[in-house]
Amino acid sequence: MLQETIARDQPVRRWQDYVVPQCWESFTGDNHAVWDLLFARQVELLGTRIVSPFLDGIDLLRLAHPGVPDVEGLNAILQPRTGWRTVAVPGLVPDNIFFAMLSERVFPVGNFIRTRDQLDYLEAPDCFHDMFGHIPMLAHHDYAEMTRHVGELGCAAIAADQGHKAARLYWHSVEFGLANEHGELKILGAGLASSFGESHLSLESDEVERLPFSVERAVNTPYRHNAFQPRYLVSKSLERTIAEVLALAPEELLDL
Ligand SMILES: [Fe+2]
Repeated sequence: MLQETIARDQPVRRWQDYVVPQCWESFTGDNHAVWDLLFARQVELLGTRIVSPFLDGIDLLRLAHPGVPDVEGLNAILQPRTGWRTVAVPGLVPDNIFFAMLSERVFPVGNFIRTRDQLDYLEAPDCFHDMFGHIPMLAHHDYAEMTRHVGELGCAAIAADQGHKAARLYWHSVEFGLANEHGELKILGAGLASSFGESHLSLESDEVERLPFSVERAVNTPYRHNAFQPRYLVSKSLERTIAEVLALAPEELLDL
């Protein structure tokens, strides 16, 4: 997940400067038990209400294996498949760093997990959000390529002082998008996939708006950073959204 604001007065740092060791051996037995609890609860809750490549990714990456995944083990499967790898970070990274990582097929995952009394509320995304929510879809070749392209778009948008346009595109697809699949409405975004409270709400509530996804609409639709979304953009199909995003050149994004 990306941070809302960019600290412009800080010295320029490379994305590599934000990477820390995961220190997998430092996760406690209770940390692993929290992962197992979250995993079991979310898999049951989602069922087949999520796009099928997500479920394929869970299997491919062996995420059902008990305990917090270690990044090296994940990368050993993910990198040969789509060129993506995960790196551990201590928390949210600035937008420019986040998009630079994506543009190089690197996904940052928190080196911590929520506690038992935080199961449903998080101030910052932890490794359950990052690994369960995001990584399965990065095993899907075309989606992985779309995500890399969003990283490139983000770098270009920030360089043109229009980072919010890329942030909205990312938010309404990778993080909180919905998608039609074989005539059924499904969860696409990682923020929904990993949320106990918002996953069903996004699909079933009458209190939220659901609008067809287009890159133009995504770029021009604000979002809420720390609350359930009032509206979701719905892809006609995952394939169509991937094609639409991949066809978007940086200069076109800036004109939207
Ligand atoms: Fe996220």
